Amino acid sequence: ESDHGKQVFKLKIQQGETRILPDTTTQTLGINQPFLAPVLQMKKGQTIQMQVNNQLNEPVALHWHGMILPASEDGGPHQEIAPNKTWNAEWKVINEPSTLFYHSHTHHKTGVQVWKGLGGQMQIIDEERDKALNLPHEYGVDDYPVIIMDRSFDEAGEFYYNNQRMNKMQGMHGNVMLVNGVANSVLEPEKTRIRLRLHNASNARFYDLVFSDLRPFELIATDGGLLSQAITTNRVRLAPSERAEIIVDLSDRKSISLRTIKGYGNLSMGMMRGMDRGNLDQTFDLMHIDPRHSERVKAKTLSQLVPLPDWSNQAVAQTRKMNLEMQMGPQMMFGNGGFSINGQSWDMNVVNETLKVNTFEIWELQNPSMMHHPFHVHNTQFKVLERNGKPPLSWELGLKDTVTVHKDETVKILLPTGPYSSSSDAYMYHCHILEHEDAGMMGQFIVV
Ligand code: C2O
Ligand code: CU
Ligand code: CU
Repeated sequence: ESDHGKQVFKLKIQQGETRILPDTTTQTLGINQPFLAPVLQMKKGQTIQMQVNNQLNEPVALHWHGMILPASEDGGPHQEIAPNKTWNAEWKVINEPSTLFYHSHTHHKTGVQVWKGLGGQMQIIDEERDKALNLPHEYGVDDYPVIIMDRSFDEAGEFYYNNQRMNKMQGMHGNVMLVNGVANSVLEPEKTRIRLRLHNASNARFYDLVFSDLRPFELIATDGGLLSQAITTNRVRLAPSERAEIIVDLSDRKSISLRTIKGYGNLSMGMMRGMDRGNLDQTFDLMHIDPRHSERVKAKTLSQLVPLPDWSNQAVAQTRKMNLEMQMGPQMMFGNGGFSINGQSWDMNVVNETLKVNTFEIWELQNPSMMHHPFHVHNTQFKVLERNGKPPLSWELGLKDTVTVHKDETVKILLPTGPYSSSSDAYMYHCHILEHEDAGMMGQFIVV
């Protein structure tokens, strides 16, 4: 195991003004830039130090989503950074190469802070391995982040955010689609064989992604890294916070769009559909891809990628049930809560579960509510074992840190508890519809 030394990132959380819409500017939040956050690249084996300075006049917690690390460095709501303060987080990267997420995780304010711009992509990269496997890996040449989010705006061009009533139930949706922070985004790739790191960084919208001509592509990685072999498909679904890496062949030099198609959105609240801004379930073009001037690169057939860890003989230390609940009624409509897991809304001072270090657990995620919930667990990359007793979907065969539990489903996951223990610092698990998380569909666990 090689040591790549220490890499220090200085991150400044700041306010800014950004031209997102054609003829007006919007008040935004960003990290080291006016809006959103830079892509951070690191390598397995490196020690990372994040020096996070908060220039806002409100507290911010910044979380490293998908990373396996000590709870004190995780950036959950217990690690809020006061205005003008700096928080140093430090850990050694033990995750496999993968595409991860970093974003605000501030108590009751995750939704609004991410909406305004406090989110970005982290990449754990390994060029040597990618070269050997024939995977495009040159950032900005044949390897591109595709960070997808929807936003809505008010008449003055400012972000419209309101997490009350319908928006709280459905989660905030918008009708302007951004890719890497840009509306009507156009990608002119340098090469015709490209890798896209698709990343749903939206608060609440689910995407059912295809290309406009329905061309097939190869799915090579999900949240936790490479699949054991590439899967040829022409669509991939991403719930909030999920990532998927794909390889697309553009050697026909045809212009196409990356599109989300109607049919998979969170439609369960039928009566609410179409009300307020931002339809829940609609077809949108997200990004236009124009390869007319791209250097032609021959398509390559991918064979085996990297074997996934074999956990089939692991003893299961504990089985837990997680019941994802929405309570309809005045509390939901007009109060702060209304969302819970196993009957408990998130409480900063309650540790809900205690796990044993370096073991494996099975969690049964149950969704008796009327909406789909993307369930996320900190500090782990897990395997989806089954979905309503059936095998997992084709795009969830690899390692995952978020899995969608559709309404009326039970999803079983097998999760390693990881090598870090602490009786004082907790990790979170929660629904990644950020308005649901802020309204209490979250719990915390310690690993001892
Ligand atoms: Cu992506 Cu608890 O977060
Ligand atoms: Cu996380
Ligand atoms: Cu939810």
